[in-house]
Amino acid sequence: MDWKERVIDEAVEAIFTVDADGTLLSFNHSAEQMFRCFAADAIGQPLERLLPERLRCGHQQLFRRFFDSGVQSMNMSGRAPVTAMRASGEEFLVDISLVRVDLPDGQPGAAAIIRDATERSQAAAAAAEAQRYQSMVLLAGGVAHDFNNILAVILGNTDLALASLDEPAIAGEALEDVRSAALRAAELARQMLVYAGKAESRRELVEIGPIADDTVKLLRGSVGATSLRCSHDTDLPPIEADPTRIRQVVMNLVINASDAIGGEPGIIRVAAYPVHAEEPWWAGAHLAPPEPEGDFVCLEVVDTGGGMEPDVLSRIFEPFFSTKFPGRGLGLATTIGIVRSHGGGIRVTSEPGQGTRFRVYFPAASRA
Ligand SMILES: Nc1ncnc2c1ncn2[C@@H]1O[C@H](COP(=O)(O)OP(=O)(O)OP(=O)(O)O)[C@@H](O)[C@H]1O
Ligand SMILES: [Mg+2]
Repeated sequence: MDWKERVIDEAVEAIFTVDADGTLLSFNHSAEQMFRCFAADAIGQPLERLLPERLRCGHQQLFRRFFDSGVQSMNMSGRAPVTAMRASGEEFLVDISLVRVDLPDGQPGAAAIIRDATERSQAAAAAAEAQRYQSMVLLAGGVAHDFNNILAVILGNTDLALASLDEPAIAGEALEDVRSAALRAAELARQMLVYAGKAESRRELVEIGPIADDTVKLLRGSVGATSLRCSHDTDLPPIEADPTRIRQVVMNLVINASDAIGGEPGIIRVAAYPVHAEEPWWAGAHLAPPEPEGDFVCLEVVDTGGGMEPDVLSRIFEPFFSTKFPGRGLGLATTIGIVRSHGGGIRVTSEPGQGTRFRVYFPAASRA
């Protein structure tokens, strides 16, 4: 064993090499421990043996692309860890770096350097949970404030009505105000439930395309000089959803796009199309669906507005986060609640001055 082989064998990281076909050629001691598999059993096997079956095809393509690309090294886990599998079938999360190497016989090969990412992803999940908690605190704070204002209107008008019982016109007006304030309170409560993903909602088979069309027609009058276009595939699969909520999502996204353009000439494009997704595909998404693999219908809203700075983009789904007016900022908080309650996903890309692209994914209903 020369010194390089000794270093590799002693490394804390799992390291293995493969040839251009993805056949395992070496497997260090840490790899044996991580994958619970002896080097002698691993060598000669295809690399995909180390992955759960459902991910093999996607990784094979990625590996091929890496090999064909001329890229010297690549971080395969990007922003999110990748799922790997021990010999026992147990799945776990890893970070993988791939490095191009020359094999001893002069042929091109690759080395993979692998670290267990279980702890890292637990920390990330805890951070996400903390953020969710923080946004609930924000929501509770903001809503309590709004409720207080509404209650002040209700109590004041009730007193006025009681004191004016012999003047029915004044009492009547006061009661009208009580009624509309109570309705506002009810609407606020409903929005909170939607945000928490707990709102009562009915589910039926829904075609997103016509819903997007109808909503866009409704909004056309309110976008000023901006051109608002809607297109969708005619044979989109249906989704299982509450149509009112889907309308609300389209509306929130289009109104935001319109606000971003600000009545200037500009373009808002609404589209719906089918997408087939697998787990690694959701890396970097703002919301990943609980069942990441399968057919989805994507609802996309693209605008040519001012776009967002990264520090704005990172906060847009927080309740009461708004760059417009204080007291607003429930549009996207509600939207993410709706999408979450439908088992969907969200991806947003935006650059200052370059416009914004929102993509919302709903699981396609199986057409059994
Ligand atoms: N298409 C977009 N382009 C640029 N910025 C956007 C876009 N969509 C959302 N934003 C930013 O995200 C923030 C939050 O959006 P959200 O819809 O939650 O609240 P809002 O539009 O400010 O108020 P409302 O409660 O009336 O919807 C906005 O204030 C804006 O800064
Ligand atoms: Mg909004």
